[in-house]
Amino acid sequence: MDGSITSDIRALVEPDRVHRKCYTDPEIFALEMQNIHENTWIYVGHESQVKNPGDYYTTLVGRQPMVMVRAKDGKVHVLYNRCPHRGALLCPDRHGNTGQTFKCSYHAWRFNLDGSLLKVPVVEQYEGTRFDLSDKQFHMKPAERTESYRGFVFCKLSHGGPDLKTHLSGAIRAFDDMCDRAPEGEVEVVPTCFRMIQKSNWKIFLENQLDAVHPSITHESSGRAAREVEQDIEKRTGKKAPLSYHYISAFTEPFFRWDTLNTMGFPNGHCTLEGYMGLRPRDPDTLEYEAAMEKHYGKKRAEEILGVNLHHVLVYPCLSVQSPLQQLRAVRPISHDRTLTEIWHFRLKGAPEAIYRRSLDYYYLVNAPSTMINADDLDNFWRCHTGLSSEGGDWVSFHRNAGQDPHKDGVYTSVTGMSELPMRHMMKAWTEYMTQGARR
Ligand code: FES
Ligand SMILES: [Fe+2]
Repeated sequence: MDGSITSDIRALVEPDRVHRKCYTDPEIFALEMQNIHENTWIYVGHESQVKNPGDYYTTLVGRQPMVMVRAKDGKVHVLYNRCPHRGALLCPDRHGNTGQTFKCSYHAWRFNLDGSLLKVPVVEQYEGTRFDLSDKQFHMKPAERTESYRGFVFCKLSHGGPDLKTHLSGAIRAFDDMCDRAPEGEVEVVPTCFRMIQKSNWKIFLENQLDAVHPSITHESSGRAAREVEQDIEKRTGKKAPLSYHYISAFTEPFFRWDTLNTMGFPNGHCTLEGYMGLRPRDPDTLEYEAAMEKHYGKKRAEEILGVNLHHVLVYPCLSVQSPLQQLRAVRPISHDRTLTEIWHFRLKGAPEAIYRRSLDYYYLVNAPSTMINADDLDNFWRCHTGLSSEGGDWVSFHRNAGQDPHKDGVYTSVTGMSELPMRHMMKAWTEYMTQGARR
């Protein structure tokens, strides 16, 4: 890149199209990590991943190896997974229990669970040096800020900016909808997640999540096969087929049905896709669940919660959440052309086991790496990234319903369910993050 970085970035994003460099340039990727992923609130994990003191879970925030740990007082900390002595990773494993302290396997420096330095071997040999046990530079470095909303832990590696709730704005519904659907108002993670490396830029994944045109095209053959079986079951038995068939057959809905969905864009790049997911069949399991909801919330409030029509929420730039089925996918960019996604699902506390099975069915049929649906999407991601890396053209088109996005107080609504509003909205936020610089 040449010229000023700000004008270079601005030249890549137009209201209805985006230059391919945004996806394929390693320098842009490095700037994204610095100005976006290591600058704003990023999802680390759920508190139930670290239930007991000493439990830890490692992950990436931007390019930084981080560890989420439960301390003895119950508080959850997010720390850099780095020993301040000579830099070794303190927790090489993905998760586990570290006991009362973190102990570095290289020279046995020991740290309390809040990251403070506890003990150093042969400490007398440091006498007369600039080393000081209480000096923070010799402690594990914490994330600049850590906050949790309804059990979902986020960290921010830069200082300043809004608190988590303010940052989430309209995307906060993802966590409210998921937790409210639990009779006890909380969810619990199901250990562990699938991890998948996608051969494409991270933004291609996020853009696909609210792309309501592609399902009936990309997933047409899977959806049609499921619909044929579903119809056959209904013809033979005279009863509705199990909901799990609907999860896949729904992909064959014609355009006019997808067009009834409603997409919105919120401050900081978050987007939602609203639509009815058909999760209230009148089978005994659903009726038992609805009775549990009524018992905990009362009829009116239970009806309000069960009536929420939210299909998908993008928490920019790090999460794709499907709250009605208790799933989320966390985005961990690896390089400009490699993206790790973690695919998690949750249990609703206080709900019958059958409702958990419903979430598990969706996980295995739609979101897991081995599903036909996910395989179709992965193929698209790889094909887009490969084509964008070529010299066959410079621009990505986001023209569908461009220039027609009504907005008020920073909230955008789409004029059609299949509008490319979410893509335009995310890239507008991207430009702001990229040109405002990092606060580190
Ligand atoms: S690198 Fe950790 S104690 Fe030496
Ligand atoms: Fe898809």
